[in-house]
Amino acid sequence: MSGLKMGFIGHGSITGSHRNGYNTLNNEGFPVSIDAVCDIRQEKLENIGESRAYTSIQDFFDGEEGKLDFVDICLPTFLHADTAIEAMERGFHVLVEKPMALTYEDCVRMCEAAKRTGKTLMVAQCCRFGNFAIAVRDYIKKGIFGKPKTACLKRDGGTPRWSWNDWFLKEELSGGAILDLHVHDVDMMQDFFGIPEAVSSGASRIIPGDGPDIVSTNYYYSNGLFTHSTSDWTTENNKYYGSLGRIDFVGGYIISASFAGQYVFAAVPSKGDIIDLNTVYAPNDFYTEEIRYFTRCIKEGLPVDMCTPESSAQSIRIALAEKESAERGGERITL
Ligand SMILES: NC(=O)c1ccc[n+]([C@@H]2O[C@H](COP(=O)([O-])OP(=O)(O)OC[C@H]3O[C@@H](n4cnc5c(N)ncnc54)[C@H](O)[C@@H]3O)[C@@H](O)[C@H]2O)c1
Repeated sequence: MSGLKMGFIGHGSITGSHRNGYNTLNNEGFPVSIDAVCDIRQEKLENIGESRAYTSIQDFFDGEEGKLDFVDICLPTFLHADTAIEAMERGFHVLVEKPMALTYEDCVRMCEAAKRTGKTLMVAQCCRFGNFAIAVRDYIKKGIFGKPKTACLKRDGGTPRWSWNDWFLKEELSGGAILDLHVHDVDMMQDFFGIPEAVSSGASRIIPGDGPDIVSTNYYYSNGLFTHSTSDWTTENNKYYGSLGRIDFVGGYIISASFAGQYVFAAVPSKGDIIDLNTVYAPNDFYTEEIRYFTRCIKEGLPVDMCTPESSAQSIRIALAEKESAERGGERITL
C-alpha cells in the first residue's frame, strides 16, 4: 500500500501519544512516514530519525510545501488557528490538537479555510474515539436501555506543569481548564446529546493566572434533558486520579469509572445481569483510533463525519458560554 507522508508542527509532550498511533498503523501495514518535524526548541528535534527538522513554522512550510500529505499540529492552543489555516492554504490536510482555538471566531475561520481550500481539517477530540464514547453512542442509537434521563461526566487532572514556557497555566495562551481540560467532556456531551439550549456554570480561580481552573456546569436541552459535568486541574499530587462517566437511561445506566488504578466499565440494567462492557467494547487507545480514523479519511477521500471541525467549533462555543456563565455568577446562558 502506498503510504502517507506527514510532519509534526510542535513536538512536545502529546506527540509521544501520536507517535504511538503512527507506529501502530505502520505495524498494521498502513504506512505513515514522519518526514518532517518543527519545534521552536532545538532539543525537541533530537532523536527524530530521518525526519527533516525546522525551528520555525515558516521555514517548515517553505521547506515542506508539496512534500507532505498532512501536518499534525501539536502546538500550544494560541497558535492553532493561524497555523492550521496557513497549513491548509499551503496544501496540507490538517490534524490539530484540541482545543480547536481560543475563540469561536477563530474556529469559524478554520472551518472556512477548510471549505475554501478543499483540505481535510480534524480536531483531535480523542475522547470521541474511546470505548466509553463508542458504547454510549451505541446505547443511545439502538435504544438498548431506552431514552437517556441524565448524564454526569467528571474529570480531575493533575496540574499541567510540564509545558513549554508554562503555557498551560497562562489563561491568555491556553484558555484555562475550561477550554483545555473540560473541553473533552463538553465535546462528549455534545456528541451524545447535541448542542444544549443553555448552560449554567460555577467556577473557581485557584492557581494565579491560569483562569477558571475548577468548573461545574449544568447543561439544559430543548427536549427537557438535563446533564452535568465537572473538571478540576488544581490537584498537585493527583495520586488517586479519577474520572467518571455515567449515563442514566430509563432502563439502566452505563458507568465508566477509574480510581487509583481500578477501572469499572459496565452497563447496569434496572433489572437483570450487569454487563461488563470491556468484553463488548474492547479497551482501545483513543489517540491511535483518532489517528487511524483521520488517516483513513484522507487516504479514501472521505469526510471526517465522526468528528467534524464544525462540531469541534461548537464545543468551543459551549465552553466559552460556560466561562461567561461562571463570570456572571452562574447565570443561565442561552446558546
Ligand atoms: N488530547 C489530549 O489528551 C491532550 C493532552 C495533552 C495536550 N493536548 C494538547 O496538545 C497541544 C500541545 O500540548 P503539549 O502538552 O504537547 O504541550 P507542550 O508544551 O509539551 O508542547 C508544545 C510544543 O510546541 C513548541 N512550540 C511552541 N511555540 C512554537 C512555535 N512558535 N513554533 C514551533 N514550536 C513551538 C514547544 O517548544 C513545545 O515543544 C495543546 O493544544 C494541548 O491542549 C492534548
